[in-house]
Amino acid sequence: MTNQELTKLIGKIQDPTAKLPLAETGGLKSVFINPEGVCEVVVLLMNKDRDERAVKIAITKLLKQDLEIPGVKIEVEEFPKGPAPYKYLGIASGKGGVGKSTVTVNLAKALNKIGIKTGIVDADVYGASVPFLLDIKKEPVMGDENEMMIPLRGQNIEVMSTEFFMPDDTPLMWRGPMLNKMLTYFFNGVRWEEDTKLVLIDLPPGTGDIALDINKFAPKSDMLIVTTPNIAASKIAVKAGLGAMQIGHEVIGVVENMSYYYNYANDQKDFIFGSGGGEEVAKKLGAQLLSQIPINFEKTEKQYEDEYIKLANEVKRIMDL
Ligand SMILES: Nc1ncnc2c1ncn2[C@@H]1O[C@H](COP(=O)(O)OP(=O)(O)OP(=O)(O)O)[C@@H](O)[C@H]1O
Ligand SMILES: [Mg+2]
Repeated sequence: MTNQELTKLIGKIQDPTAKLPLAETGGLKSVFINPEGVCEVVVLLMNKDRDERAVKIAITKLLKQDLEIPGVKIEVEEFPKGPAPYKYLGIASGKGGVGKSTVTVNLAKALNKIGIKTGIVDADVYGASVPFLLDIKKEPVMGDENEMMIPLRGQNIEVMSTEFFMPDDTPLMWRGPMLNKMLTYFFNGVRWEEDTKLVLIDLPPGTGDIALDINKFAPKSDMLIVTTPNIAASKIAVKAGLGAMQIGHEVIGVVENMSYYYNYANDQKDFIFGSGGGEEVAKKLGAQLLSQIPINFEKTEKQYEDEYIKLANEVKRIMDL
């Protein structure tokens, strides 16, 4: 038995309070077979008082009875701040270039403005743009005393991005496999600022497999679907939404981006990219069209920001933040 194999098996044991396996709560702090052959395990639980006994019994049974390891030493500690106090919201679109990253960043800004502290996981390994949008300079990510990573910060928003760990010249074909490894840490090993209520996940474009990856790391994350007003383009957004729903994510709503050009000269909305895409996606997913975001240009900055504040309030209400 290697440490890695042991870690995998013990990681399947549930934290009864979190109702999740230790591998997912990040509660398996260490597994180590000492020179005398004793397996030393350190576990972090959401509620030590209540669950210590049950978890010790489960681990002892696994190690002694099932795996026949003679010596076992289990230490149980409690997570410093109890269960993760924040929720996750994935931003998905299916199609690239519709404005996922833009929506992620502006929604985070608006949520922070209305008092909902929000961080961002930039999971787009093929085209991380969140650090760029928030002017974050790439620098080494530090850990705290519990080896939790401390996010970098731009415009007062905390961000963990695949880009912080990717050597600049990593070939595209290597990036995919690296994503999986990184995401494990992004969802278990980050110390978000205290009172963070929500973490937005900027997902890579695509429908099936990526949604599945996220499911593994943040199985309870809700989803927000971004589309454009063009009906033809909305098909793939529907596909992304249905894929996410199939594996158990709740789609909290649809955002139609680049919906119209706000003509400030006559106070009219010009639907220059067609219309109906957002409604169509919402209808097909049985979700609400939460927002129609105008095309942003300098003279309409106010309309643009107001629309995001409205969206932030909707997200706050629906997710009960
Ligand atoms: N409402 C808007 N008004 C004007 N420009 C916009 C708007 N939304 C997005 N854009 C622009 O469209 C381009 C694509 O946006 P963005 O990078 O956010 O899309 P994406 O879906 O994240 O793309 P990718 O699939 O490459 O990750 C960017 O140049 C962005 O500035
Ligand atoms: Mg993007």
